[in-house]
Amino acid sequence: TAVQRILGFESSCDETGVALVEVAGDAPPRLVAQALHSQISMHQAYGGVVPELASRDHVRRVLPLTREVLSQSGLALQDVDMIAYTQGPGLAGALLVGAGVAVSLAAALDVPALPIHHLEGHLLSPFLSADPPEFPFVALLVSGGHTQLMRVDAVGSYEMLGETIDDAAGEAFDKSAKLLGLPYPGGPHLARMAEFGNPEAYALPRPLLHSGKPDFSFAGLKTAVLTQVKKIGPDGGSGPCDQTKADLAASTQAAIVDVLVKKSLLALTETGLKRLVVAGGVGANARLREQLNSACAKRGIRVHYPELLLCTDNGAMIAMAAALRVQRGMVQPQRGGGFEVRPR
Ligand code: KG4
Ligand code: ZN
Repeated sequence: TAVQRILGFESSCDETGVALVEVAGDAPPRLVAQALHSQISMHQAYGGVVPELASRDHVRRVLPLTREVLSQSGLALQDVDMIAYTQGPGLAGALLVGAGVAVSLAAALDVPALPIHHLEGHLLSPFLSADPPEFPFVALLVSGGHTQLMRVDAVGSYEMLGETIDDAAGEAFDKSAKLLGLPYPGGPHLARMAEFGNPEAYALPRPLLHSGKPDFSFAGLKTAVLTQVKKIGPDGGSGPCDQTKADLAASTQAAIVDVLVKKSLLALTETGLKRLVVAGGVGANARLREQLNSACAKRGIRVHYPELLLCTDNGAMIAMAAALRVQRGMVQPQRGGGFEVRPR
């Protein structure tokens, strides 16, 4: 069988990702090489992603990263058979960089360009692991911008079971971390601080926990954290206040994780499915993994996670989503036309 080589580009937010995936017949597509540049340190000074700076940095990085992927693969640009790129959702200017480069390269090489939905990339990222899940499964998608539970029956067959009505889980981590004086993006920092704290020290709200539906709300939690931060004082970071901060971090993390676990179990019960896939940046959270693992083990449910490095945004998941679509004949690739991005 002929091998198809797909070069994938991700530039929806603050990571520039490029990757090459090979697909041949029915065999699982194979990640050949990938390169990633995170802009996190650049945005840290501003406490969040600055869209204009993000676009400009994607411009600087995207071609050097492409060269790196090709040299790691021992391939030339002419060996590429298709180019995939993130069409959205994300920051418009940032998306346009990846899309513009992808569509231009495709035109120059006279190969098709394939737009990919960013969240489909996250959903299918466990297929980059050595032990990919079988369909159907429930997916918990928890990133900085999204918190959703989906029923996944096949590539391209996604049914939304529930989502957040306000903030995303990652946003809840990041906003609470900011209130605790931690750098952006605060999720991993808050998680590290929480290791030293008591998760039961503060009784924080778990919004919609008992709604009976797989929906989420995190805005109220952030407000509750703010109230506690005001009580312990703005510079709780020094001396004796460290333990207080760690306790608050641990309690915040516990509240978010409790909700994510409970709603995932609800979605599994509702659908009767026995497999759960966790994807998106918050999927890297150790407490979430521990609690999901133990709750699911009791119920005979298998949980799949992408590798830690593939939980957050990357080009490999975009190239993989494209490869899985190509393999199933599900592509309507564009050739030589205009292109559009879909920020929302
Ligand atoms: O999937 P992702 O890279 O970007 C989006 O598409 O949004 O997710 C980034 C989010 C951020 O909110 C970040 O704080 C969070 O994932 N995150 C974590 C952890 N690692 C990343 N949150 C909690 N614990 C972690 N270990
Ligand atoms: Zn993402």
